[in-house]
Amino acid sequence: MNKLPSFILSTFALLFLGTGSAWSAETPGSIHDVAPEACKQCHEEIYQQWKGSMHANASALKDPIHGAFYRNVAGDPTAEGVVLKANKKYPVCLKCHAPAAALDKKTKLDAKPAYSDGVSCVSCHSFSAFKGSESKEGKPLLGIDAYEIDRNSLHGPSGITYTTERVPEGSKWPTPVNHTVPLQGNKAALFKSNDICMGCHEKRSNAHGTPLCSTGKEYRDSKNTVACQSCHMANVTVPKLKDGKILEGQTVTVADHSTAGGHDGKMVTRGLAMTLDTDQAGDTIKAKLTVRNRLPHSFPTGAPFRNFFIKVAAYDKDGKELWKNFKVHPIKDDPKAAFWLTLGDPAGKPTAPPKATQILADSRLQPNETRSLEYDIPNAPGTAIIRAEALYDLLLPPLKKNLKGKIPDELMKPKLAASAEVRF
Ligand code: HEC
Ligand code: HEC
Ligand code: HEC
Ligand code: HEC
Ligand code: HEC
Repeated sequence: MNKLPSFILSTFALLFLGTGSAWSAETPGSIHDVAPEACKQCHEEIYQQWKGSMHANASALKDPIHGAFYRNVAGDPTAEGVVLKANKKYPVCLKCHAPAAALDKKTKLDAKPAYSDGVSCVSCHSFSAFKGSESKEGKPLLGIDAYEIDRNSLHGPSGITYTTERVPEGSKWPTPVNHTVPLQGNKAALFKSNDICMGCHEKRSNAHGTPLCSTGKEYRDSKNTVACQSCHMANVTVPKLKDGKILEGQTVTVADHSTAGGHDGKMVTRGLAMTLDTDQAGDTIKAKLTVRNRLPHSFPTGAPFRNFFIKVAAYDKDGKELWKNFKVHPIKDDPKAAFWLTLGDPAGKPTAPPKATQILADSRLQPNETRSLEYDIPNAPGTAIIRAEALYDLLLPPLKKNLKGKIPDELMKPKLAASAEVRF
């Protein structure tokens, strides 16, 4: 493996003096050992966005939900030599959730900061080309296997040529621009197209070949052409930061590296549009509800236990609930108001992702789908408000029960994705 030139390493050593960073002069050898804190120095706004993202928290040591699953299907994320229980092979999970560890074929995620950093700056910015998410023989290429990876240089979207050499005072374009860490402009569509996401987000099946995630297929079936980045990494103008402090009056425009999704209460409100019409007919109020998925992928998409449900309720003028469309959960009491993927075992009984051999049903909203739901609500005396709420959940009810006490309660709380109401 090529080593980074020693002057670069010493530049890093300088950068890190006094920052108490995890980087040390012994480790680098591959650009993958360069910590995100090295980028923070100059890309502080992007660093802060990324730090709070699920990419930065994707490893089993940082994401409590992934961590719980990983311990179940593989083992201790702080042990070396862990294999998947199902096939006794290197845990495929790490190819997407801890790419730096997977590149080194290691499983002890606390051995190096780069391993527990999850999908870090260098993970994405060392991709130089997309191979596709399947080999010529039709074998899935997952995570790092789907990309050509440069061990010695970063890649960026602009196509600008950079140099690590000092650029002479007063020099003008096209003199290469200085970048302390080796960096190549990558004019290929890679960073501007879905390719930069698809290696990890296209699809994933469990050991039985049952598809657990198929965001890529959903998107292609929708025949949409809006790139993932236009919603998930849109340009945002944010206050300029220096050493954690806001520089008053100064802003920068960057591609939003917080890549918000299901964990973000604001993001989940962007996917659904809801309308509600009512018609009072004697003893009943006929309510017609429509929900429309604004997205070019399913709502919800991603992990198979993402789901949402609709609560429809009647209230009196003081907000006291008089009627509701379910008792325990719509999955049990009002299936048309539950939007989820039902995975099944060979006997056709609903089961958890690692055991699933088939998909029994998919009631999630398909890309751009509009669906109507109708209710006959008792027109009880005093009924003043009919309200419908779409509530997004990271986990299905049985999983919440299993994980209670093992993950923060915050992750169990449904988020309001959309609402509509009629007042009489
Ligand atoms: C000493 C300052 C400095 C450090 C450290 C630094 N960068 Fe940069 N970087 C810049 C400047 C300046 C630019 C050009 C202006 C811009 O796009 O912000 C740039 C541009 C980039 C670009 C855009 C490339 C393009 O033209 O398409 C990427 C990607 C990038 N840096 C990634 C990183 C990563 C990842 C790290 C950490 C491993 C890092 N940088 C560390 C200063 C730095
Ligand atoms: C190297 C693999 C990899 C690449 C490349 C990648 N992701 Fe991810 N992404 C992940 C993993 C792993 C997670 C799950 C983290 C977790 O929840 O543990 C994730 C999570 C997400 C989420 C969900 C956030 C949430 O709130 O749950 C979104 C949205 C997302 N990625 C968007 C993108 C977009 C857009 C791109 C392309 C610009 C991209 N990702 C590229 C691996 C990747
Ligand atoms: C999930 C993959 C992914 C990760 C992780 C990631 N980037 Fe990026 N980065 C991108 C993509 C894609 C673009 C291009 C966005 C666009 O132009 O639409 C980009 C653009 C940039 C740019 C160009 C300037 C801009 O705002 O467009 C810089 C600088 C940059 N990234 C730095 C970083 C740093 C620093 C980190 C870590 C703190 C990081 N990136 C982590 C995918 C990633
Ligand atoms: C029109 C805007 C838009 C586009 C384009 C888009 N998304 Fe999303 N995406 C959203 C919104 C809003 C959510 C939150 C609601 C949800 O989870 O469905 C979301 C959620 C997600 C999640 C979160 C799943 C989770 O488990 O938390 C992932 C992953 C994701 N998108 C990946 C992608 C990928 C990959 C692409 C490109 C192929 C893409 N998205 C294109 C708007 C968009
Ligand atoms: C092809 C890449 C890929 C592989 C391989 C992969 N994952 Fe993921 N995983 C993702 C992405 C991307 C997300 C987040 C977006 C979404 O919901 O799809 C995710 C999300 C998850 C989540 C939800 C995390 C949360 O915060 O709610 C769990 C749990 C999970 N993965 C477990 C695993 C386990 C266990 C393995 C190995 C058996 C594995 N994954 C293999 C890409 C992958």
